[in-house]
Amino acid sequence: MNTPAVRRPNRALWRGAHLATLRPDRPWGWIPDGAIVTEGERIAWVGPAAALPAGLAVDAEHDWGGGVVTPGLIDCHTHLVYGGNRAREFELRLQGASYEEIARAGGGIRSTVQATRDASDAALLDATLGRARVLLREGVTTVEIKSGYGLSQADEARCLRVARAVGERLPMTVRTTALGAHALPPEFAGRADDYIEALCDWLPGWQAEGLVDAVDGFCEHIAFSPAQIDRLFSRARALGLPVKLHAEQLSNSGGTALACRHQGLSCDHLEHLDDAGVQALAAAGTVAVLLPGAYYFLRDTHLPPVAALRAAGVPIALATDHNPGTSPTLSPLLMMNMACTLFRLTPEEALAGFTRHAARALGLHERLGQLTPGRQADWAHWAVDHPHELAYRFGHSPVCRVVRAGQPVQEVLA
Ligand code: NIG
Ligand code: FE
Repeated sequence: MNTPAVRRPNRALWRGAHLATLRPDRPWGWIPDGAIVTEGERIAWVGPAAALPAGLAVDAEHDWGGGVVTPGLIDCHTHLVYGGNRAREFELRLQGASYEEIARAGGGIRSTVQATRDASDAALLDATLGRARVLLREGVTTVEIKSGYGLSQADEARCLRVARAVGERLPMTVRTTALGAHALPPEFAGRADDYIEALCDWLPGWQAEGLVDAVDGFCEHIAFSPAQIDRLFSRARALGLPVKLHAEQLSNSGGTALACRHQGLSCDHLEHLDDAGVQALAAAGTVAVLLPGAYYFLRDTHLPPVAALRAAGVPIALATDHNPGTSPTLSPLLMMNMACTLFRLTPEEALAGFTRHAARALGLHERLGQLTPGRQADWAHWAVDHPHELAYRFGHSPVCRVVRAGQPVQEVLA
């Protein structure tokens, strides 16, 4: 039998559920009783099942059997690679110690740096894969993973390699972010400027090894100054790397305006963002990433300026910010619930924050984040009747089945 010279990719038809496509032209991008046709890894057609092209030839047909299908969730801010935990620090904070006091006394991020340096490569990878699997089970098909607990040339590279390995071992898209400017490592005590210089010199090697998709920093009085972040970002941009920033989390230090001057993909946290910062985000098209887990876990009371961000048309993304110190959660749906109760987002904004806007925060908005023809066939199929249920429950989540690049992924989670 002759093999045709050009074979079209495997075509599959999926039907039997409502679709929240997140196309921005209608609420939720809603298509009741919808259908999706995939060709290989991509979506070829989306619409009401009643409008399926007549006589469509498919290689496989799937019936969802009810429920709602959304784009695969995108967790655009995580610190998944680390050793140890900070449960003891949680106890101390409950007894009255502040996050800053613990950090200044050498605890906080630096205690996780020690535990991370002490962990073997295998143990780090195992722990990270375990966390990524929990995200995948709750519908996350794309995850950004930061370094930031190695803080030496070798240990940051080790963490970035672990992050890359997640994308090779699991059916998830992984974007890696070099967060060397997370805290000052003990070797550079009192020499923050020297550390930033060293970091700038390490970047090209990590980039040459294919370890870095973006560069991040922590701009805060307990971390690095805007001038120091400016030097790091100038180097990153000269290497062609996009930047993003932990900004205005504990105080208003002007990091947002600085990141916007470097065309930042996103500014994250933003509890203390002022009006000038909101305008800078709007003008630069930079995404505001809100992190309700850290706000809640630090028992913060200073709310990010959601109404001003909304009024200025700034895209608002959400993320778990999973990390051992300020947000040890692995539940995007809990973050959606908290974004509604604590930050007053609507349930629809919360879902857009984990899909369409999160894709933009990673520079992947043309490929991911909506169920539309041409985009990757990544979705989550939920046992709910309406997508507003996703942000409604907390502490338990509806059953979710995941398809990534056109392939069901349940079996890797068994
Ligand atoms: O996103 N703010 C800085 N970085 C992390 C916390 C890291 C830690 O405490 O280990 C965050 O909240
Ligand atoms: Fe963070």
